[in-house]
Amino acid sequence: MVLQLNPYLPYPAYIRGIRDEVLDKRPIKTFTIELKDEKLMKNFTFKPGQCVMVGIIGVGEAIFAIASPPNADCIEISVMKMGRVTTALHNCNVGDKVFVRGPIGNGFPVEEWEGKNIVLIAGGIGITPLRSLYYYICDNRGKYGELTFIYGARSSKDLCFKEEIFEIERKEKTCHITIDFEEEGWTRHVGFVPDVLMKVSPSPKNSVAITCGPPIMIRYVIQNLHKLGFKPSQIYTTLEKRMKCGIGKCGRCNIGSLYVCKDGPVFSYETLQKLPEVF
Ligand SMILES: Cc1cc2nc3c(=O)[nH]c(=O)nc-3n(C[C@H](O)[C@H](O)[C@H](O)COP(=O)(O)OP(=O)(O)OC[C@H]3O[C@@H](n4cnc5c(N)ncnc54)[C@H](O)[C@@H]3O)c2cc1C
Ligand code: FES
Repeated sequence: MVLQLNPYLPYPAYIRGIRDEVLDKRPIKTFTIELKDEKLMKNFTFKPGQCVMVGIIGVGEAIFAIASPPNADCIEISVMKMGRVTTALHNCNVGDKVFVRGPIGNGFPVEEWEGKNIVLIAGGIGITPLRSLYYYICDNRGKYGELTFIYGARSSKDLCFKEEIFEIERKEKTCHITIDFEEEGWTRHVGFVPDVLMKVSPSPKNSVAITCGPPIMIRYVIQNLHKLGFKPSQIYTTLEKRMKCGIGKCGRCNIGSLYVCKDGPVFSYETLQKLPEVF
């Protein structure tokens, strides 16, 4: 029997590992988290694109996309230091106690996409849900067509999962890494993600494109996907709104009639077109 977590209950967990991703004025760290209850951890299942609420006693909770693949023996999240909870997390050490609620949200419709070519387009910390999705696709490679991966950041220092991304570049024929401006010794793409998308020019035929990153990047990526012939139903993205409960009860995160926490955070552009403007 699969033991599901109750999304109302914060479950005790501890930090198994911490890795610096970006050392900036807005630093990013990746945390490896394990639920205290071994059975619950073993049975913790989710879809790529789903999130967890991570809480620290006396501070609060915040929501993060799960960066690890569904079959991992832990939960990985990458956290940008923003405010109360994220700063408290950045101040944590290996072994410290946290609480986890989840999985939260709908996740990517990976079953619907079977048989299709997959185009992943990420910017900055927006790579986290796409990292989970990438490894899911690797584990189920026979079910999907060609994979194109485009990832960009402001500078080489702002790339998350840098070594892994370079490894993916070595493995995949169609992985493109870009930074916004020239840097000494940088031999890959230079330019904004939407422009690199146009250079790479993936075919819309039997494809879906999934994009995560800063809203301004998503906006131009979607415009360029249209120019390449992608229909709104072939484009997916994730939305970020301030959240509290994460389970559709507090009304904090709605856009029109939809709740980002419950109906999202993954939406097709076809759905988003029916909502008040989000990008
Ligand atoms: C579906 C979803 C997935 C997310 N995934 C990640 C992730 O993988 N990694 C990650 O680092 N962050 C992620 N976030 C954002 C993260 O949840 C917020 O940064 C976090 O809530 C900040 O908590 P805090 O207590 O540190 O900040 P607070 O003290 O609450 O706020 C600090 C500052 O950040 C601003 N802020 C807080 N939350 C948001 C938000 N959602 N959008 C815009 N501004 C905000 C506040 O206005 C304030 O200026 C995600 C958000 C959503 C909705
Ligand atoms: S966060 Fe409470 S309804 Fe979405």
